[in-house]
Formats: sequence, C-alpha cells, structure tokens
Amino acid sequence: MGFSTDAIHVGQEPDPSTGAIVAPIYQTSTYVQEALGKNKGFDYARTAHPNRRALERCVAKLEGGLTSYVFSSGMAAIDAVFRLLRPGDHVIVSQAVYGGVFRLTTQLLVQFGLQFDFVDTSCLENVRKALKPNTKMIYVETPTNPTMIITDIAAVAKLARERNVTLAVDNTFLSPYLQQPIALGAHIVVHSMTKYLNGHSDCTGGAVILTRQEDVDRIYFIQRSAGTGLAPMDCFLVSRGIKTLAVRMERHDANGMAIAKFLEAHAKVKRVLYPGLASHPQHEVARRQQRGFGGMLSFDLGSLEAARQLLNHVKLCSLAESLGGVETLISHPALMTHASVPPEVRLQIGITDGLVRLSVGIEDAEDLIADLEHALSKV
Ligand SMILES: Cc1ncc(COP(=O)(O)O)c(C=O)c1O
Repeated sequence: MGFSTDAIHVGQEPDPSTGAIVAPIYQTSTYVQEALGKNKGFDYARTAHPNRRALERCVAKLEGGLTSYVFSSGMAAIDAVFRLLRPGDHVIVSQAVYGGVFRLTTQLLVQFGLQFDFVDTSCLENVRKALKPNTKMIYVETPTNPTMIITDIAAVAKLARERNVTLAVDNTFLSPYLQQPIALGAHIVVHSMTKYLNGHSDCTGGAVILTRQEDVDRIYFIQRSAGTGLAPMDCFLVSRGIKTLAVRMERHDANGMAIAKFLEAHAKVKRVLYPGLASHPQHEVARRQQRGFGGMLSFDLGSLEAARQLLNHVKLCSLAESLGGVETLISHPALMTHASVPPEVRLQIGITDGLVRLSVGIEDAEDLIADLEHALSKV
C-alpha cells in the first residue's frame, strides 16, 4: 500500500470487540490472567500494551523497518540505542547534533565507559578518518538541529557496512514521509515523535526502528527493563497524529520553501540555512536523498541583539522550544535548545548568537511572512 494508506491503517484495525473505528485507550496498568501462565498477550503495561503495539507496528511500517519500539521521549529512545553498546566501545556522532544528545553522551554515557567523537559527518573523509578499531556505531543526525547540515546517508552506510559498524540515523527533522534512512542503508532509525510524527505538540514520545533481529531483542529487553515505554494515552495521540503525516509534511514543505525564499531576499538576514535553497552547501545531496525539504530552517541576523528584537516582536510565531507541530515555533538555539553545549563548541559548529531557528507550521504562508516582515522591521 502507499505511505498514506499505511499511515492510516497499519495497527489501526477496528476494535474487534465493538467495531470502534478508533481503538480504545487501554488505560490500565495490569491485565487479569485467565489461569496461571495464561493471558491474552499482555500482562503488565510497562512490558507492553495494545496502544503501544499498534503504534509500533505503524512506525515500523512507515520507516521500512523490521520492528519498532516507542519510548517516553526521543531522548529515552536515543539512550536505549546507545545501551546496545558496551564499555570501551567508540561512537562517531554528527558534530552539530541536538543539544540533548550532546549532554547525554558527554555528561552521562561517558561515565559508563563509552567513547564519543563529534565529527562533521557531511564529509565522508572525516568519518573515515575518525574510525577506530573499537568504533561500533556511527550516529548521524540529518539535517542537523539547528544548523541544517546534511549527511549523505547512503555513502556513510556503505562505509559503515564495509567496516562492520552500526549506522543509526535520527530522522526527526524530516519524518519517514520525506526521508527513509533504512532504504538508504541505515541499520537503526530514531525519532523524537514529540515532533512531526505526533505533529500537534500535545505529548512527548520517541521511537527506535530496527532492521536486525538481534537489535530487536536487545532493545525490547532494554525498554522493559528500564521501563521507558510510551504510555497508552500518548500512544493514542501519536497514532492519531500519524494519520495526517503525509498531508502535514506536504504543507510544512511548501511553507518552509516560501519562508526560506522570503528570508533569503530580506536585507536584514545575513544567511538562511534551508536545504531546499540552491545556496545550501549540501543542496544536491538533500535533493537526492529526500522527498522534500520540510519545515525546519535557521537564519542568522548577525547578533544576539538583532535576534532578541525579532523574537520579541513576532506575534503569530510562538517563542518556544520544540518543533514539528502544526503551529509555527521560533527559537534561539544558543540560549534555548543548545544551551547545554559549551559556547566554544557552539561557535565551532555554527550556532552563533544571531542564529534563529524556525519550525514552520501549516498556517497560511502569507500570514507567517507578514509576521516575520513586521518583526524584522523592528530589528
Ligand atoms: C533532532 C532531535 N532529536 C532528538 C530530540 C529529543 O527528543 P525529545 O525532546 O522528544 O526527548 C530532539 C528534541 O528537540 C531533536 O530535535
């Protein structure tokens, strides 16, 4: 079936006991057993529950994986992936990775003997040079948050497979509608489902999509041991959001392009980072591996003061963390999402004090442009 048909129907079969077209929310912690050792497939909600199973089937199908597991947040999902590793293992991570991943790896996981090197994965040669005998995983975010750097997934996957290294890709910024890392050779995909998969900014969630049975068994063991699975109500919300993923992403993509072009032509904007623009350094790679360019973009106003003026004068764009919802969100990475990254590292990876990030929603593009035009006039 096509993507939209799968998004609406996989895992969403009518409830067999009542015919309800939308499966009920199984808001229960435990399941009564018919006899000792005999149950209907569920015993305790930490381990599994019907809403989680339904969502996991759908997400695995959309990403083209064998199985998926859904977690209480994107960070819980990413943490589970790193727990596949053992003390002494080395990981190559995209340099401009989401700030939460930088914090998790450099401040927490290093305490358990994992080693991380942050590398500009948009350059294959850098990845090759960073490989060590104990490298077990390459962890790529593409596009990166908020610098919009693109990594050629197929090229890194080829290298990873030659060297027997696992390739994990964070596909949060594009969603499986616009990019399918497994088809390009990745072994593992992760998501913050808080973003586009849910799409309505009403819960947090994460997903790990797997292609190898040994990873499936390990991730399930990690999830049920650590108790990080997504709760029934939140699974219901993400399942509902996914049904409109394709139409939302089409609109995010169209609005993203319209706003990127408007900003690029504006005299007060120094630089626009949007992979859909011909000026983007990896525009050709993005065109090749993505179905569209999505709704995420960043732009530089040259100084913290200029960024502050803009952020204080927007009205329709909401000043907030997070992204991927139907409403447009605007943020200041250096002081918000990436505040946990040391200032010198921020500058090295291009997160300047004048950088503003936009998660372009699905409102009318003209209204968003009018709001930005007005705010830019105050800069
Ligand atoms: C690219 C990316 N990956 C992972 C995460 C973490 O997800 P969550 O906030 O759901 O834990 C985020 C959050 O902003 C993100 O932008």
